[in-house]
Amino acid sequence: MSQSLDEALTYSRRWMDIIRQPSVTEEEGKQIIEESKRNFAEHFNQGWLDYRKSVTEAGDWAATEWTGEGAIFRDVLGREYIDCLGGYGLLDLGWAHPDVVANVRAQLNRTPMPSQELIDPLRGVLARLMALITPGDIKYSFFCASGTEAVEGAIKLAKMYTRKSGFIVALKAFHGKTMGSLSMMGKADYRQPPGTLYGGPIYHVPFGDADAVERQLDICAKVGIDIAAVLMEPIQGEAGAIVPPDDFWPRLREMTKQYGVLLIADEVQTGMGRTGKLWGVDHWDVQPDILAAAKSLGGGVMPVSAFCSTEEIWQVMMYPNPFIHTTTTGGGALACSAAIAAINVTLREKLWEQAAEKGNYLIPKLKALAARYSQFYDAHYDGDGITGRGLLIGMHFQDPEVGYKVAAGLFKRGVLVAGTLTSAHTIRIEPPLVITYEQIDTVLDHLEDALAAV
Ligand SMILES: Cc1ncc(COP(=O)(O)O)c(C=O)c1O
Repeated sequence: MSQSLDEALTYSRRWMDIIRQPSVTEEEGKQIIEESKRNFAEHFNQGWLDYRKSVTEAGDWAATEWTGEGAIFRDVLGREYIDCLGGYGLLDLGWAHPDVVANVRAQLNRTPMPSQELIDPLRGVLARLMALITPGDIKYSFFCASGTEAVEGAIKLAKMYTRKSGFIVALKAFHGKTMGSLSMMGKADYRQPPGTLYGGPIYHVPFGDADAVERQLDICAKVGIDIAAVLMEPIQGEAGAIVPPDDFWPRLREMTKQYGVLLIADEVQTGMGRTGKLWGVDHWDVQPDILAAAKSLGGGVMPVSAFCSTEEIWQVMMYPNPFIHTTTTGGGALACSAAIAAINVTLREKLWEQAAEKGNYLIPKLKALAARYSQFYDAHYDGDGITGRGLLIGMHFQDPEVGYKVAAGLFKRGVLVAGTLTSAHTIRIEPPLVITYEQIDTVLDHLEDALAAV
């Protein structure tokens, strides 16, 4: 495709007009769908359209998202869906939470991005709030935009502080897809195609197996391989909402101290209340040395992520070079204004308690359905195919084809769920924490219908 600046000028103008239009007609909606499909296929990723067919086709017109509030969103033709995916943990506060939107709007009119030289107050406010809400002695934070950047920062910080280069991570772990985070991932599908990744030693051990972690620490100590940190998700998300045994995190804490190794909690998905506590590690009162947060930290409105640590560890971020770690676009005023509101709403509404209560309501009902349709479910997972805590829930099927049909059946009935990125073996139920009990009941009814239809 050759360069065509005139076309780019008119095309961007056309979309500026559409974006500023308060609503669209049905005819315009259909045009937008066709245009979006063409744009995805020709300029973004045809594979996305093919892979997501089960959940994008709803009747004659592909579903193209447009608006939403709470746990409900609408496509461009006005069809309504209950969101049980929550943007993979992005939308704990629901779609377009009014307090977060109001904060961002107000800040937008003042100053959206920092000068990079003066002190931008909101960055300091958010850093203080993070110190107030994170466990233990965590006191300093760095802000960026994506979860993977937060994990990258955590890895770099652990390396700089310990002056060691090894990491122990978990099988099936998901930490993001830039090179450092990707190296820590526990899945060949994503690690293998790009070839050689992080240069230091990385050991993958089964998640939840404290003995395996201890054995690996012991082997490394005996052969003289220096380990900087153990990095894990408190409850594995992308692996399918896998909850470790209760002694796992306390033992990780104990053994990392014993071996002089840092403990990093990747709270990108579990953080901000998702699992029924404000942070996943709070289930076991564990205080990590470094914590990575993202997704719902931006209230589902702005991209914001953070890695946070103690004053002692943060010294290497401040001295001798305070610019050892920077980013121009991350942690700007709009992002911070969103996160400040997101923290306020999360605390005010005690969203983690809502997640715990709604999870306690939903999980037994999902288990009862799994018992009735046990021929479909994979009992290797918690004996009945249902795993998770709070509103981070996995339904594990024996056959991905069944998972695919259940996801498609739910979508046809107006409920969005999704597999774990490339597999429908596991379907995640991860709604906004503000989902109502009535909406949960509707989801359960539709799930039963979808299972019966399979
Ligand atoms: C635990 C965990 N860490 C890191 C990431 C990466 O976050 P992002 O997609 O924002 O880069 C994810 C994303 O799903 C995640 O679940």
